[in-house]
Order: sequence, then structure tokens, then C-alpha cells
Amino acid sequence: MDIKKAVIPVAGWGTRSLPATKNVPKEMLPIYKKPIVQYIVEEAIGAGLQDVVFITNQNKKIIEDHFDRNFLLEQLLDRGGKTALLEEVQKVANICNMISVRQKEQLGLGHAVLCAKEVCKNEPFAVMLGDDLMFGLNAGICELLDAARTEGKAVVGVIEVPEDKVNRYGIIQGEEFAPNMFHVRKLVEKPKPEDAPSNLAITGRYVLLPEIFDILENQEPGVGGEIQLTDALQGLADQDKLIAVKLQGQRFDAGDWVEYLTANIYFALHDEELHDDLVKRLMELLPCTELK
Ligand code: UTP
Repeated sequence: MDIKKAVIPVAGWGTRSLPATKNVPKEMLPIYKKPIVQYIVEEAIGAGLQDVVFITNQNKKIIEDHFDRNFLLEQLLDRGGKTALLEEVQKVANICNMISVRQKEQLGLGHAVLCAKEVCKNEPFAVMLGDDLMFGLNAGICELLDAARTEGKAVVGVIEVPEDKVNRYGIIQGEEFAPNMFHVRKLVEKPKPEDAPSNLAITGRYVLLPEIFDILENQEPGVGGEIQLTDALQGLADQDKLIAVKLQGQRFDAGDWVEYLTANIYFALHDEELHDDLVKRLMELLPCTELK
């Protein structure tokens, strides 16, 4: 199975992250030194995907600009002899072949994926949510690409979550047929812990085949009046056409403030120059009983 495209939906309003996202897209909020979406594009390219398809809206132009040249800035860095920084900004501009599709109304994630139909046509493709971060060696989409190639089916990435937190996630019911690989039978949205069929939660990483477009096109709006990708995945599961892969790396949902802030610290702690000073400052702040 030849998979070349990564569809990255970035058209949502990011209401959970307001007021930070009033005018700055959630996907452009920084995690340590880079905007969130840069990590996702780097993961896609690192996994061998070639084309990035952004599903955008009219307020997200800044995302495309981030992956384009900025000649004025480059001149300035060049004149100032800031070679390392110059190389870094040029590298981001050259990292991927970029295609953009406007989602004119935010009708849900399923609808955002459907917007990629004319670009993906008859090809299988990866979907990587623009606010879902995966870290670790070979973590994330490359694990799913391997599974899709060997099994020839659509794949969803899942992670284990604590049993008392299953009510925050979409949870799968399935049978493990190989280590960390499951035939998915059912996807249950935010179940009560006592009703949850497992503790395997759906993440923002998928590999889909063009068959998904027919399902999405004929799908009625679901929860919140939105075209839900989860409903389309249930359609695949009903036909035994969906597998799940348990992902290995660290995952952060950048739309959640605790996760977003933890991801910042996680990255900063991995920077040797910053590590000691940061730990020292954090220790001074803990326990933080009141804001001063
Ligand atoms: P989320 O539901 O997490 O993002 O969608 P959101 O809608 O931007 O945020 P909240 O819930 O209001 O805080 C996951 C990803 O799907 C994209 C979002 O941009 C995000 O990256 N998305 C969602 C779309 O592209 N279009 C949509 O209609 C909905």
C-alpha cells in the first residue's frame, strides 16, 4: 500500500483554548520552541510521508506561512551572521510539499476529512490531528503506516488510559490478534467507567482508505450536530475493515491546558542547556499554594 499524504485538519475554532486562540490558531501555539503543528508535520515527514494536506479555514493562513519562505527575515538573519537560525527557518520552509483545502464551515472532524477527497482521490492517506502530539522514537503515525501496509485495512491509533478516565475519550472494543493490534468491533464515545469495553482510547492518528469518503458523504450529523469521524469508523468496524494499534510513545492533547503545559515542560526538560535551571525554578514554585 503506497501512502504518501498526511491530511492535517486545522480548521477547528479551538474554543477550549480561548482566549489564547481568539486570533492565534491553536495549532500555532508554541510547545517550547516550535508551534504545535510543526511537530506534527515533522512526525509525518519522519515517517516517510511526502505531501501535507492542511484542512484550513480563513483564519489559519499563518499556518501555511509558517511552512513557507520569509525572505525579509532570512535577509535579516543573513546580514546579522545568524547562520544557525537562518538554516532553521529555511529548513521549516522546505520541510514539506504543502497543499491546502478550505473547510468553509466547521461541520466536524468527519467533514474536515471529507474535504480531502479531491486531493486524495483513490489513494490511502494518513490523518493526523493538528492538536495531538506524539513523541518518542518511531512513535505515532509510522506505527500505523506499518500496520496498514501489512493488514491492508484502515487503522486507528489507541493508547491506554486510566480506567477512571475512560469517560473523557472514545474507547474501542476489539480483539487482540497480534501484539498491540486489535480488530475493532465497536467505538464507544465517552463511556462511564463501568460500561467501558476497554481502557484503549482513540488518539488523533489514523490511516484511512478512500472508502471512508463514501461513508462520510452519506452520513447524518451525529453528536453536537457534527459529521463525526468516529461514526464513519464505526461503519468500517461493522464490516471488519478497521484495526487499532496501541501506540508506544508519549501523547499530549494540546487542546487541554494540563496536557499542553506538561508538553512544554517535557520538551524543555529534554534541552540540556535548559534542564537544570528549569528544574531549579520549578522546585522553587512547588508547592505553589497561592499566586503571588
Ligand atoms: P478538536 O475538537 O480537538 O478541535 O478537533 P477544535 O474544534 O478546534 O477545538 P475545541 O474543541 O473547540 O477546543 C481536533 C482537530 O480537528 C480539527 C481541529 O482544528 C483540530 O486540529 N477540526 C475540527 C477541523 O479541522 N474541522 C472541524 O470542523 C473540527
